[in-house]
Amino acid sequence: MLKKIKTPFTEMMKIDYPIIAAPMFLVSNADIVVQASESGGIGTFPALNYRPIEKYVEALKEIKSRTKKPIGVNIIVNKSNARQNEDLKHALDNGVELFITSLGSPKEVIKEAHKNGAKVLCDVTNLEHALKVQDMGADGVIAVSSGAGGHAGPISPLVLIPWLKTRLQIPIVAAGGISHGSMMSAVLALGASGVSVGTRFIASYEAQVDEAYKEAIIKSTPEDIVMTTRVSGTPAAVINTPYVQKIGTDLPWAMKVLKDHKMTKKYMVPLIHLMGMKSLEEAASKPTWKTVWTAGQSVGLVEEILSVKEIYEKLITEYDESVKNLSSLGLD
Ligand SMILES: Cc1cc2nc3c(=O)[nH]c(=O)nc-3n(C[C@H](O)[C@H](O)[C@H](O)COP(=O)(O)O)c2cc1C
Repeated sequence: MLKKIKTPFTEMMKIDYPIIAAPMFLVSNADIVVQASESGGIGTFPALNYRPIEKYVEALKEIKSRTKKPIGVNIIVNKSNARQNEDLKHALDNGVELFITSLGSPKEVIKEAHKNGAKVLCDVTNLEHALKVQDMGADGVIAVSSGAGGHAGPISPLVLIPWLKTRLQIPIVAAGGISHGSMMSAVLALGASGVSVGTRFIASYEAQVDEAYKEAIIKSTPEDIVMTTRVSGTPAAVINTPYVQKIGTDLPWAMKVLKDHKMTKKYMVPLIHLMGMKSLEEAASKPTWKTVWTAGQSVGLVEEILSVKEIYEKLITEYDESVKNLSSLGLD
């Protein structure tokens, strides 16, 4: 294994490599988290991957018994998540060191996490939101750019990271499209202090998703990724399977009207979420023709299933080669 990579993010988390195994609904599990943290990065998972809550508490205890290295939990902080306070409390009780918040206000998570000495990174897709969370006391942001799996942002990482850098004092972790070490050196050159990698880890031995999903990750090209609002109401990146083509990437007209109307919005948004989550769950766990598979554009560079440890080693080796190649291009 190579030496360490030192950045403000690795210093903050006391880890060897600035690589987060990103939280992925239905994909992240105890094995991925443990292997990622043991590989010198940091493994994270969405609390909601474990339902009911007793299973989540069991998972926290299991992960903590298998690694002494820091781990992270992702909490969806919008109204659709009724479990958020409980999820936070159990994570803190079990000594979780890092929280990743998405889709809402991270205020409560930041306040409670800091009482325990834990750190909080907030998903952001633009400067306005990033400044808000910086003011709230976030320890860093995850800059979710275009090309990402899940709820991708609209802005290219080439612009997003330097843009955030103009006004942020806290570390920026780049997310979106990263599946090769050269991409990691590119975003660190832009000013990021780390990377958060999702899609690449779907094609890992540890991911317990349907084999057809892993195969689709390996076979797909970046052009196979489309944005759909059918999963959660918010644009999400999915593989353009025949089923996605059949149902389309927009909510049906009537649903859209109900979602946007102030009287029905509060019922419709959670309903769309619930229906979308159900279809994702079916497609991820068992063979079905209703294939809605979340993934980002980095599928184009994923060529084989590897273990989490091998993925870390590959990223780090490629990063090292890329930095060396670049330094040979410096001015003589
Ligand atoms: C299958 C899948 C599920 C995801 N689920 C979540 C989630 O539950 N919460 C979250 O904050 N981000 C989620 N994301 C986004 C990732 O945490 C991360 O930001 C993204 O995967 C980075 O882009 P990449 O996939 O191109 O590496 C998901 C991404 C994927 C691919």
